[in-house]
Amino acid sequence: MGIRIKGIGKYVPERIMTNADLEKMVETNDEWIRTRTGIHQRHIAESSTATSDLAANAAKAALADAAMDASELDMILVATVTPDHTFPSTAALIQQKIGAPKCMSFDIEAACSGLLYGLDIAHSMIFSGKHRKVLVIGAEKLSSITDYTDRSTCVLFGDGASALILEADDSIEGDFYLGGEIGADGNYGDILQVPAGGSAIPASHDSVDRHLHFIHMDGPKTFQQAVTSMTRACRKVLEKTGVSPDQIRWVIPHQANQRIISAVAERLNLSDSVYCNVARYGNTSSASIGLCLDELHHSGQLQRGDLILMTAFGGGLTWAAELIRW
Ligand code: ACO
Repeated sequence: MGIRIKGIGKYVPERIMTNADLEKMVETNDEWIRTRTGIHQRHIAESSTATSDLAANAAKAALADAAMDASELDMILVATVTPDHTFPSTAALIQQKIGAPKCMSFDIEAACSGLLYGLDIAHSMIFSGKHRKVLVIGAEKLSSITDYTDRSTCVLFGDGASALILEADDSIEGDFYLGGEIGADGNYGDILQVPAGGSAIPASHDSVDRHLHFIHMDGPKTFQQAVTSMTRACRKVLEKTGVSPDQIRWVIPHQANQRIISAVAERLNLSDSVYCNVARYGNTSSASIGLCLDELHHSGQLQRGDLILMTAFGGGLTWAAELIRW
């Protein structure tokens, strides 16, 4: 039995927030944002749009790409830090929105590493023989947890969703998933977090007044951990799989910041293979790697057999690196 990626889809809201728009909201400027982050603009959802709406649109695009009907799906995994609600899961809401069967559907919370966590779980489920067709989504309405009075974070984030369909196929040989290195270190949980809204600090007037429902981040520490964890994870995957850097066709890092991406690529000696779209979308957390894969796929830049190294880090801290063959 072979296992492959059968379809990829994405969705970003129409509305664009440029750096010039942010200049009117906080004390910042286009030059600072571009040079420190590489971001030129980000897409922002309307207030009436929820993460499940973004995700359902991406899922429908992936189903169309796979020429598959939602009724064929065995499982839905949704990576998000901006679920519609604490519960029900966003995955269950998407199941209803796309008309999938009443299949196993649940959310994964691994912040920006979420899509890669989801791919690993989905692949394992198919590999074990339990499921055959799995939808994995990374979807975020980060604008709903972004503090637009905090210039150190509000310039970074955007909204969007990406979706991948994995399938077991008896007519092909080979497995697209060559290896992964995935982990988490709760010692760094406080450098990147939304402090309130959970059981530790339930919502109150005080928590709202203190802006505790928004992303709080120690930027320089996050930067340092991001570079270290992604570089280490990528090296381990290459070591495990016996693949050398010159065999890699594409590197798709989580699109957090151009400087982080460049630092990781330089350390791995893979600068020429990196795909970036952070300039157009900003940091879309769990959606970002899928947005890149979708663009590469639909612009015809992926050739059969290409080796693709994907890597991410996120709040937790979490990290992941996965090597796949297209
Ligand atoms: N415009 C202008 N000046 C700013 C802005 C802004 N938007 N933001 C911060 N500054 C100022 C700071 O106040 C500081 O001023 P000071 O020296 O007078 O105090 C100065 O710029 C430098 O601040 P630093 O934080 O040291 O800037 P740095 O070069 O580290 O860049 C950044 C900041 C871009 C946030 C960087 O640290 C970074 O990319 N960190 C990682 C971010 C990231 O990837 N986060 C992942 C989140 S993903 C998730 O899980 C949701």
